[in-house]
Amino acid sequence: MQFIDLSAQQRRIRDKIENRIKQVLDHGQYIMGPEVKELEEKLADFVDVKYCISCSSGTDALLIALMALEIGPGDEVVTVPYTWISTAEVIALLNARPVFVDIQPDTFNMDPDRIEAAITPRTRAIMPVSIYGQCADMTRINAIAAKHDIPVIEDGAQSFGAIHNGRKSCGLSVIGCTSFFPSKPLGCYGDGGAVFSNDGALVEKMRQIRNHGQKVKHQHPLVGINGRLDTLQAAILIEKLKIFPEECRLRREVGQRYNGLLSGTAGIQTPVISEGNDSVYAQYTILSEERDTISTALQGKGIPSVAYYAVPLHLQGAFSPLGHKSGDFLVAERVASQCLSLPMHPYLTAEDQERIAETITSPTS
Ligand SMILES: Cc1ncc(COP(=O)(O)O)c(C=O)c1O
Repeated sequence: MQFIDLSAQQRRIRDKIENRIKQVLDHGQYIMGPEVKELEEKLADFVDVKYCISCSSGTDALLIALMALEIGPGDEVVTVPYTWISTAEVIALLNARPVFVDIQPDTFNMDPDRIEAAITPRTRAIMPVSIYGQCADMTRINAIAAKHDIPVIEDGAQSFGAIHNGRKSCGLSVIGCTSFFPSKPLGCYGDGGAVFSNDGALVEKMRQIRNHGQKVKHQHPLVGINGRLDTLQAAILIEKLKIFPEECRLRREVGQRYNGLLSGTAGIQTPVISEGNDSVYAQYTILSEERDTISTALQGKGIPSVAYYAVPLHLQGAFSPLGHKSGDFLVAERVASQCLSLPMHPYLTAEDQERIAETITSPTS
């Protein structure tokens, strides 16, 4: 059994993808070819925002967003310690300071009740993460940010396709960023990402930053990065996007089936989806004090599982200059010590899920 089975999807649309790749090979515009624009228009439509800028990864999407907001030395960005390292890495890369706020114990997303205490006169942005495919409480986060006149960047790397109060992830705040890493809900066959916004001026800036700060050829009003999405990846994503709405539905079905099989099991906390949210279950993550026993039992039956994220960011060496210690973010630390992500993809069968659930409910038998 695979943790994320990408081959099942590929089997479904391989001829279409090959055809799209062939078109790129035929026209030969490997950088910023016509597929890039076509994809950006389709993605913007999907998210229901005015603009999409595709880029080289989810990490670069976040970096481009922060650079466009001119975040730099001495600035603070409020974010969470329970996420993939990119979220805080890009803040540190710009010599700004990640200011962590703890997460909610049920959704594992930024706890809106803790944000105001973290805001200082140096706060330049709030960057919540929509973890495991469920949007953070963007409604409350946006309201707090608006009160303090601070922009919100949603790190929607895991939540592309998710819905919050009727609107799509990445279209919920001033800037939304996502990742097309192969294992993400919408993934390409390499690295890729995108930035979304309705703010024309910011978009113009982000478009330039993505391409070496270039406005027109050989004119560089801004310092930028080489952050473009390859035409080949755009071509692949165009085909994958066609079946993505159906895959989001299948993901929800798989997530709900897991809930049915596992909820109520003593010692297991299953994912909690807040009212108004619809998750795409980038990961299906349970909590258990017996995490290691369960993981070993699963492994014994050839079932992969991963502890995403076993070490929260405030305890990572990369962020030791921030001076945090164990106990600073108790919810994140507890979740990190108990989390276990199970096999999850749109094509996971009910039989496989039943086998996984049986092993979890009686790991020692
Ligand atoms: C929450 C989060 N943010 C950012 C990223 C970075 O995306 P990428 O791997 O495309 O750079 C990821 C990818 O795992 C992620 O999960």
